[in-house]
Amino acid sequence: MSKIPHFFLPIVLNLLMPLYVISQQSDHTTLLTVKQQLGNPPWSAAWNASSSPCDWPEIICTADNITYLVLQNKSITGKVPPAICDLKSLTYLDLSYNFIPGGFPTFLYNCSNLQYLNLSQNYFVGPIPSDIDRLSSSLQWFDVSGNNFSGNIPPALGNMPELRTLYLMQNEFNGTFPAEIGDLANLVNLRMDYNDKFLPAKVPSEFGKLTKLQFLIMTDCNLIGEIPESFSNLSSLEHLDLTYNQLQGPIPKGLFQLKNLSFVYLYRNQLSGEIPTPIESLGLTDFDLSMNNLTGPIPEDVGKLQKLKLFNFHTNQFSGTIPPSIGRIPTLENFRVFTNKLNGTLPPELGLHSNLEAFEVSDNEFTGNLPESLCAGKTLTGVVAFSNKLTGKVPESLGDCHSLRTIQLYNNNFSGEVPLGLYTLFNLSSLMLSNNTFSGGLPKRLAWNLTRLEISNNMFSGEIPKEVSSWVSLVVFKASNNQFSGPIPMEFTSLPQAISLFLDGNLLTGELPIIIESWKSLSTLNLARNKLSGQIPARFDSLPDLLNLDLSENKFSGQIPPELGHLRLTFLNLSYNVLTGKIPDEFDNLAYEYSFLNNPSLCANNPISNLQKCLTKTRKSKTLSPNILAVILVFSVILFMVTVLLTFFVVRDYKRKKLKRKLAGWKLTSFQILKFTKADILSRMTENNLIGSGGSGKIYRIAVPNSEEFVAVKRIWNNRKLDHRLEKEFLAEVEILGKIRHSNIVKLICCISSEDSKLLVYEYMENQSLDKWLHGKRTESEPFLTLSGSIRPVMLDWPTRLQIAVGAAQGLCYMHHDCSPAIVHRDVKSSNILLDSEFKPKIADFGLAKILAKRSEPNTMSAVAGSFGYIAPEYAYTTKVNEKIDVYSFGVVLLELVTGREANDGDEHTNLAEWAWRQQGEGISIIDALDEDIKEPLFLGEKTTVFRLGLICTSPQPLSRPSMKEVLQVLRRCDPLEG
Ligand SMILES: *[C@@H]1O[C@H](CO)[C@@H](O)[C@H](O)[C@H]1NC(C)=O
Ligand SMILES: *[C@@H]1O[C@H](CO)[C@@H](O)[C@H](O)[C@H]1NC(C)=O
Ligand SMILES: *[C@@H]1O[C@H](CO)[C@@H](O)[C@H](O)[C@H]1NC(C)=O
Repeated sequence: MSKIPHFFLPIVLNLLMPLYVISQQSDHTTLLTVKQQLGNPPWSAAWNASSSPCDWPEIICTADNITYLVLQNKSITGKVPPAICDLKSLTYLDLSYNFIPGGFPTFLYNCSNLQYLNLSQNYFVGPIPSDIDRLSSSLQWFDVSGNNFSGNIPPALGNMPELRTLYLMQNEFNGTFPAEIGDLANLVNLRMDYNDKFLPAKVPSEFGKLTKLQFLIMTDCNLIGEIPESFSNLSSLEHLDLTYNQLQGPIPKGLFQLKNLSFVYLYRNQLSGEIPTPIESLGLTDFDLSMNNLTGPIPEDVGKLQKLKLFNFHTNQFSGTIPPSIGRIPTLENFRVFTNKLNGTLPPELGLHSNLEAFEVSDNEFTGNLPESLCAGKTLTGVVAFSNKLTGKVPESLGDCHSLRTIQLYNNNFSGEVPLGLYTLFNLSSLMLSNNTFSGGLPKRLAWNLTRLEISNNMFSGEIPKEVSSWVSLVVFKASNNQFSGPIPMEFTSLPQAISLFLDGNLLTGELPIIIESWKSLSTLNLARNKLSGQIPARFDSLPDLLNLDLSENKFSGQIPPELGHLRLTFLNLSYNVLTGKIPDEFDNLAYEYSFLNNPSLCANNPISNLQKCLTKTRKSKTLSPNILAVILVFSVILFMVTVLLTFFVVRDYKRKKLKRKLAGWKLTSFQILKFTKADILSRMTENNLIGSGGSGKIYRIAVPNSEEFVAVKRIWNNRKLDHRLEKEFLAEVEILGKIRHSNIVKLICCISSEDSKLLVYEYMENQSLDKWLHGKRTESEPFLTLSGSIRPVMLDWPTRLQIAVGAAQGLCYMHHDCSPAIVHRDVKSSNILLDSEFKPKIADFGLAKILAKRSEPNTMSAVAGSFGYIAPEYAYTTKVNEKIDVYSFGVVLLELVTGREANDGDEHTNLAEWAWRQQGEGISIIDALDEDIKEPLFLGEKTTVFRLGLICTSPQPLSRPSMKEVLQVLRRCDPLEG
């Protein structure tokens, strides 16, 4: 407040001396005042009394008059000094990219010669004043984009006859915009995009009067109704963008007759009717009508567009055939007509005359062959033609198209052999040929980067080559229902990245090979309906992530190895084999009721479904010979004597120890001043305070005496005594974590340890885990979070989700970049991100769970299985992991936040990350991937950014993932609170 007199002083002086000619000298003084009022920032060092302002970098003079003042990106955080308008010749003022707060600076009305005014990318708030036409009547350029202006856009804007450029995009306008904009007879550029809080409104037909308008961009403005017929009068229009609105009805008859039109983006509306013809906008380069409700044929006229690069007509109701002339357009790069009702053959010359990049025709009723020369330009990145009625062979030429990343031909009637070159295309990452009648054998080599090979339901045959071990990148292999024969080579079990393998319904014979270590990521193995025989290998227990195992309808014999019971299988089918003996105890329950059908010689202790009861005793006595019985008798006697002796010592020892333990059995390591004692905690660990239990132990919520606070106590049992080294390692880790103080990491208050269990005392987090809020159910893998009975399906809104992403990233960033040595979490997942009463996120369980899991019983395996979907691919094949595995897992969390899907949920695909990559690959809009709870089209830019960031973080190659620092930067830019 005390500054205001200073601001006004020069104005007052001017008013007092109206007859003075303002010389450059007084402009000089004005600028020094401006400098002072800006707080003498470092960039203004050149602004001094001894040099001419015309020499200062921020200023341009015209014949010694100061005409340009450019203060762009000068970190200005205060109000703009009104003295600026004392520069009487000022015509050009740029204040963009600062942090200027407050309402619209109405003192600018005094800058009477202003022609160019740029206030974009600041923190301005409130309405654009209704007397905005008091700005200089010569104003040609008016840019207020990227601020927080709200309210209505005033009709007075229509009274600024010289305006050529009007930029209003990216604000918080929540009212209306005026039809009077149509009065701006000189307007060339109009942008109002990304103002999704506008009240729903029609495009005023008055806009049709803007005959000089070249650029009209109104993306995401909440537009309803029809595109006015008057748009046919926008004779200068070059660039029209009305995407992401709710426009309905037909496209105006004359729109595509505008001669200057080059870019038309109308996607994501509800436009209907047929495309109006004739099309006379022959200079069209980008023609995007996708995701509407348009019907009728694709006009023959499209073939006349000799500059067309982008042809996106996908996701409409177009019918009929595609004019073959489209294939002769010399500039065509993107051809997307998927998801329509198109039929007939594809333009045979497509790709022959241009550098085609995208060819996406899936989900139509096309017949005939694929065009022969799609890749003549050597630029094609995808052939996406699934779900049509295409026939014939895959053109040989595609086998030499090294720019291809994906080939998706499933659900067609293709036949013949696949060109061999296809399998080894340098950039190919997915090849999907299922549901055709292809024949031929499996290739010996695959492209280094090929992660997905799907060839189910064809007529492929031959043996699985030994060279299969070179398929190093393969993640998904689906080859069900073909005619593969011969044995499964041992090399098949060495695919280091494989997650899903399907070879069911083939003619494979022989025994299952010994499973070697490197099949570590495998989660699904389906070998059903073959002719495999021999025993089921015990080594299945070396596959920690295996969730689905189907070996049904083979000829497996012998016992089911007990090791199989150690896996956390969610699906097991061993039915229709000739297995014998007792099923492992872990399977002896209703969950596996249908897992063992039709194995006449299998039995169970508690028979389920059709299994018989095991008759262990009688069978044993039948088979034991008298000699062995004698040996057993002698041995039993010895055992009995040893037991008696041991018991004596143990009891004596126990009595001594019990006394000692009562006094000193629990060792307390604390990391801050405690408000409670060991006894307070130990005495309150009762069933009543139990809030969860699972794989690694139990969780209690314990009230701190004499206070309102709670702590969470995690009790971890050691079934056996920890060996000394591990005990030390555990305590060392606890020590490091106990010392960390960061507001986004769950505070470890103390550790209380005894010989057989460890108690970790954490701060209690009111809202438990992110996982629970996103997916609304208990997770078995991380009991720390499950407060029984309080599962409320309340939704998290987008700003809260973003806040959680930023906070969690801050926590990880701190561990990676501010701790020395860096601490890698190794188990980042939404159930390890806890939320306090204000939904501020904190990361839990740094490192500890893993150390304990290392030496523990198979029942803590869930710690690993539960993280399925979060594990970076490299984790499977190397123990030398770095921070980038956390970045991967964090990327999965970001994808969860945006899509609401669970980490291991990706439709028929294997996990969320892969699913998301595929969405991206198919060009499917982010809107379709959004969680139902945040489906509203607000914050679309932010949601898109977070989704893309999730994709980048889950890059298969660790090197191409960003660091947590970079991740945090991107998230912060997204976050309105942090600028
Ligand atoms: C410079 O400014 C003065 C005062 O406003 C004006 O009279 C003069 O015409 C200007 N000169 C030019 C070249 O614009
Ligand atoms: C528009 O937004 C402003 C600022 O957030 C608010 O004060 C005003 O009430 C809103 N008006 C309407 C009609 O929602
Ligand atoms: C699309 O048009 C069909 C009729 O042509 C109509 O039944 C359907 O509701 C429309 N869909 C949308 C999203 O407008």
